[in-house]
Amino acid sequence: EKGGWDSFMDKEIHEDPAAVQRTLLGRFDERGDITLDEVRIDDHDFKSIDKIIVIACGTAAYAGQVAKYAIEHWVRVPVEVELAHEFRYRDPILTPRTLVVAISQSGETMDTLMALRHAREQGSKVLAICNTQGASIPRESDAVLYTHAGPEVAVASTKAFVAQVTASYLLGLYLAQVKGAMFRDEIRQILDALKDMPAKIQWILDTQMTAVHEAAADMVDAHSFLFLGRHVGYPVAMEGALKLKEIAYTFTEGFAAGELKHGPIALVDEGEPVVFIVPPSHGRDVLHAKVLSGIEEVKARGAYIIAVAERGDKDVERYADVVFWRPECPTLLSPLVDVVPLQIFAMDMAKLKGYDVDKPRNLAKSVTVE
Ligand code: M6R
Repeated sequence: EKGGWDSFMDKEIHEDPAAVQRTLLGRFDERGDITLDEVRIDDHDFKSIDKIIVIACGTAAYAGQVAKYAIEHWVRVPVEVELAHEFRYRDPILTPRTLVVAISQSGETMDTLMALRHAREQGSKVLAICNTQGASIPRESDAVLYTHAGPEVAVASTKAFVAQVTASYLLGLYLAQVKGAMFRDEIRQILDALKDMPAKIQWILDTQMTAVHEAAADMVDAHSFLFLGRHVGYPVAMEGALKLKEIAYTFTEGFAAGELKHGPIALVDEGEPVVFIVPPSHGRDVLHAKVLSGIEEVKARGAYIIAVAERGDKDVERYADVVFWRPECPTLLSPLVDVVPLQIFAMDMAKLKGYDVDKPRNLAKSVTVE
């Protein structure tokens, strides 16, 4: 069943490219027209949407945070991301013009299910992004956009995450199309870039494993890790930190790189491992320079720096102790590649410590109690 791999997690990480590819399959034509066939909300309702709230837990919520950056940029509709277990208890503002997007791999997470019921009771439409056909969450939603990652067995979510992010992009582009927020050509360009992403993920799996294995071997005794990113790199940092907590039982903290000087830099001491997700060096120069200055600051305090950065980024090469390279890609799509070395890194750390990567202690694959 593991198809020759040591663990399901290994197998599932190696299915990241296919998960993205299958999620894109058949959802747009040559002209860039997107059709989401499982979506049963009519165009009139979609056009009137003036707010989106993503509800999810854990990894799915980090996929939702990536969705926020992309959808707000493309569709110009405000997107909130809320942990499903917080949502219902704070009297959220929901109207028939609010689209609630419930993201869940299993489709059975009770917190998310209860939050979606609450949203529907208040008259909002709910669209589920789900990996499991016929599960409770898609069954109770007004529309479903299935991720086609295939069944995910390992408790730590990997291929489902990249599929959720992919589905969120499709939803964003679909909304941009229906609402006329973007030109057809712009949408087509992004779809073209999305089609290239599976090959870029594959490039990481083919070329970056040695660097990741070495970093894990170097850092296996570290007591804690910090993960930092900005923009879409921020949810990627959070997700990388969660993976390491879940399966390697290492204390990790993920946060927005801009927060460093507002407190967390006090944690940085000689040898402290700090993982930076560095934005592409082209295009978003401002953010690249800002993340770089964060790297310089922690380097000056003796930190051990692991960076995820774009191929050929000389500045990063100068400061980082280890770099996991990414091929060039649009910033908004970069989470699809950046998360991959972090998934492998967490798995390596857990294996080196002798833990069962598929069944971490205290955790269940699907959390069906509130
Ligand atoms: O099945 P769901 O996507 O609703 O699950 C949500 C979280 O429980 C899940 O992502 C959890 O955080 C994973 N163990 C992360 O690896």
